[in-house]
Amino acid sequence: MSKSPGKPKKTQADKADKYVCYQKSVQEPSHEVAFFEQAFGDFNRRKPRHLREDFCGTFAVCCEWVKSSPQRTALGVDLDPEPLAWGKQHNLGRLDERAQKRVRLLQQDVRRRNRPQADILAAQNFSFWIFKTRAEVVAYFKTARSNLVDGGVMVMDMMGGGECFEEDHQDKRTIEKGKHGFKYIWTQDTFNPINHDARFTIGFKFKDGSRWDEAFVYEWRFWSIPEVREMLAEAGFSSSHVYWEVDYETGGGEAGEWERREDAPSDPSWVSYVVAVR
Ligand SMILES: C[S@@+](CC[C@H](N)C(=O)[O-])C[C@H]1O[C@@H](n2cnc3c(N)ncnc32)[C@H](O)[C@@H]1O
Repeated sequence: MSKSPGKPKKTQADKADKYVCYQKSVQEPSHEVAFFEQAFGDFNRRKPRHLREDFCGTFAVCCEWVKSSPQRTALGVDLDPEPLAWGKQHNLGRLDERAQKRVRLLQQDVRRRNRPQADILAAQNFSFWIFKTRAEVVAYFKTARSNLVDGGVMVMDMMGGGECFEEDHQDKRTIEKGKHGFKYIWTQDTFNPINHDARFTIGFKFKDGSRWDEAFVYEWRFWSIPEVREMLAEAGFSSSHVYWEVDYETGGGEAGEWERREDAPSDPSWVSYVVAVR
């Protein structure tokens, strides 16, 4: 079939699927499932079965969860129909029929209370930072707590370090090499030291030089770990714990292992987990 003359050739950015790029760049669902098992196991003597993934987006973590055991169920909650529809086609569709039936999705605000209750409630990729006041976060944490069984755990990730407060700071990683390769670009666009409002974007740069800037934009409040722990206590959680990545260069162990700590080095850029026990 001949192409119509004069029609501009599509760039790799034009043809890209932003959710494919996102999942390849920022998500490691098997890692998350392993961490959920560790976190739940630290406070319970049984195996976790029921996951609730708040702010689930394309709910890749729900899919990985049900794949990991035929006894496991997952409930994914997100406001936005677009990533939910994408996830149905690309993530749910890859599961066998039985596993698919163990995933339930709700297009709703995470601040709504639901039944059934979960063993683990995950709120990943800093998503609750969309709530910018203590009152909003505490209200959300109260609802999250009510969506958990006794002994259930809420798992959140956090980031920080001096670099995180630099404006226009970029973190670039090559995600795939070769002619269909691309780079992931995380930009800390703005940070207001007075109210901690922060704007972040995710963009992608492709092998042919084309770019998709601001494929994802986040307008968040930059919360700190002590603030989050205080709000968890205020919302009624019985305890909260911080898991820091094991420094495998100095402390032994392997990359991607997490240990509970009460003190940590002031790295210029870090990510950690906060786990709250109902
Ligand atoms: C940063 S993305 C996280 C996606 C996924 N959890 C991950 O880890 O990659 C944030 C998601 O939260 C959703 N969201 C924002 N506010 C919400 C709310 N109040 N209730 C439910 N979902 C919300 C957005 O639609 C978006 O899909």
